[in-house]
Amino acid sequence: MKQYARECILNRKDYIPGKPIEEVQKEFGITDIIKMASNENPMGTSPKAIEAMIEEVKTNSCRYPVSLCTELAGKLAKRLGVAENQIYIDNGGDAVITMYGLTFFNPDDEIVTADTTFPAYENITTKMGATIKKIPLTQGGYFDLPAMLKAVTEKTKTVFICSPNNPTGPITPKKDIIDFLDKVPSSTLVFLDEAYIDFVDNEDCVDSISLLGKYKNLVVMRTFSKVMGLAALRCGYCVADSEIVRAMMKAREPFPVNRIAQAGASAALDDAEFYEKTLANNREAKKYYYDEFDRMGLKYYPSESNFICVDLGADSEEVFNAMLRNGVIIRPLASQGLPTCARITFGLPEENKRTIASLSKALGK
Ligand SMILES: Cc1ncc(COP(=O)(O)O)c(C=O)c1O
Repeated sequence: MKQYARECILNRKDYIPGKPIEEVQKEFGITDIIKMASNENPMGTSPKAIEAMIEEVKTNSCRYPVSLCTELAGKLAKRLGVAENQIYIDNGGDAVITMYGLTFFNPDDEIVTADTTFPAYENITTKMGATIKKIPLTQGGYFDLPAMLKAVTEKTKTVFICSPNNPTGPITPKKDIIDFLDKVPSSTLVFLDEAYIDFVDNEDCVDSISLLGKYKNLVVMRTFSKVMGLAALRCGYCVADSEIVRAMMKAREPFPVNRIAQAGASAALDDAEFYEKTLANNREAKKYYYDEFDRMGLKYYPSESNFICVDLGADSEEVFNAMLRNGVIIRPLASQGLPTCARITFGLPEENKRTIASLSKALGK
């Protein structure tokens, strides 16, 4: 293959996604399975979105999508108080990150991020043949922005910040982000991934959109996969200076967001009831896990998202396998450098109870 494929692609490690329910059914012959591994929405999908998607399937399946996602971009722009040409929408946040790298990264570029964060940043960096610099998180699982600033050189094209961070869970405090934006050279773009922003319950969270006017090198990414419950449909976006968006539009596919996703995302934006119900369930689940982990004497990172990163004090791959046999899928984090930690998505009350029961059994606690 070496004679055909780009070396930087062949050198990449395989990505291991959260284990799908279907695979566990096949492997263990069990049917009653709960997936607490991929930070999906346990409340399902907004009923308004489902209605709009069914209507779109019925009436417009034969038509190509609206390339510029005009209705959705317009709604987002109005809601966020930015111009429509500051919004870039693609096939999930993953595709936004990929198209961003495709647009901006050259093989000579350096990209700075944290050592334990969302793997997509490293993925696109290596796919483009650029160099990744990973700076350790602080003890509390926070991005160490002063250390990341020190790692920035004239070759640094982008710094990726994930806030709240996946997989640890905390936000990067407002002051840290503003200090960083003040000091980082304007030749370096700052990509702020806010996939979990809606779940944040912390006044120290920066209003990133309001910073876009001042910092032209800031890109803010969000997704419909989490709080909106549209992970299967694939729709995410970023907000940035219109010139950044214009450049990314040149790299993207002509029809990256299918019609069903556009209709669902647009309708979900009007479903305040579903949004609030999702957040209420999330708050309740967070408290439940905090209480249970305290009872079991397990350490965890403070969560500002829809999941929690817990230190099991044991090989998390073994615990994961034991829990699979009970039909509970969690996410062990050895591949992300945290061999005793696991990430557990907040579920419905009965799912959370079952997860804790299975975990207690696996740990003998
Ligand atoms: C931090 C972070 N960013 C981006 C994404 C991509 O989300 P999606 O491609 O589903 O929009 C995820 C998905 O889990 C994530 O955790």
